[in-house]
Amino acid sequence: MQRHGIEEGRGAFVEGAWYIIADASGVGKRPVTVERFGTRIVLFRDERGALVAARARCPHRGADLGLGRVVGGAIECPYHGFRFAGDGRCVAIPCEGRAARAEGEGRARWAGDALALTRFEVREHRGLVWLWWGERPAELPPLPWFEGLPTDQRHAHTATMQWDVPFARAMEGMLDIHHLPFAHRPWAVGVGALLDPYEVRVEGDTIHSEGVLRHDDGKPWDGRQGWKFALEVRFPGVLRLWFGGSMVGVAGCAPIDAERTAVVGRYYVPVPVIGRALAWLGLSLEFLLIQPGDERMLASSEPRDADLEACRFVRADAAILAWHKMRRTRLKAQRAGEPRRLPVDAA
Ligand code: FES
Ligand SMILES: [Fe+2]
Repeated sequence: MQRHGIEEGRGAFVEGAWYIIADASGVGKRPVTVERFGTRIVLFRDERGALVAARARCPHRGADLGLGRVVGGAIECPYHGFRFAGDGRCVAIPCEGRAARAEGEGRARWAGDALALTRFEVREHRGLVWLWWGERPAELPPLPWFEGLPTDQRHAHTATMQWDVPFARAMEGMLDIHHLPFAHRPWAVGVGALLDPYEVRVEGDTIHSEGVLRHDDGKPWDGRQGWKFALEVRFPGVLRLWFGGSMVGVAGCAPIDAERTAVVGRYYVPVPVIGRALAWLGLSLEFLLIQPGDERMLASSEPRDADLEACRFVRADAAILAWHKMRRTRLKAQRAGEPRRLPVDAA
């Protein structure tokens, strides 16, 4: 098995899971390279329009295939024009002439495999790009999703942002509720600091949490006052967020590398005519005004990459604690297991 030495931080990423890595509408006629899991991944569409995800490093001499173009469903490297079909095969080597084939015919003397793309399991679903990170099991599990969300995106808006914090910290930020009146003080006018009631349930790889943020008046919750929310995470990084009203958010988080995290966010506002505009407005304000506050807190937190021992959790952190426990269990199993063959190990 050949190692390419590109998987820095490898082993720290939870394997064997579907991650949302991009907005599928961003992959059109042109290829796109994204960096995830410390690996540059090129996304393009084959001749049928099906999404292909492959290592972006050209097998020839390493140029970024995302800078190339797609011709007849094959991706063409920008450097010397080698072409690769959707199934990964090298199908053209211009400098060796028309007769050249990667399989070793004609003047070419290279083995087909050596020039094949290293591909990843990828799916396009609900307008999102889903990537399976880890060894491929005999049967891939279904993509995680949530009940009750609109099936189309007529009333949705999707956008991607990058946080300069490690994945675990980003997930802490996503699952944290009681920071609201402090980290977002200018925008959380009138929101109380007491998280009560608050309930966290773990079922399989799902963490449900819901509760109310309210002012502490010394009395039990009356069922009315306060700011209600519900958060659900499909471990490790797919979330559904509801903060009252008709707006529902979905967030897909994936590590860019050991230090940074990509967040694909989507708001649904199922309101006729103006739903999409409201979703756009909501998500834009969130990215502009709210999330920088989260990133600032997370980037300032030590250690940069948190673990169970690094923090003193309180009751209101129960969802974060549950997430960290899941992560620890998964990473422990990964490290104890046999060396795994990730897609980037191929070739
Ligand atoms: S580096 Fe891609 S064709 Fe040469
Ligand atoms: Fe926040």
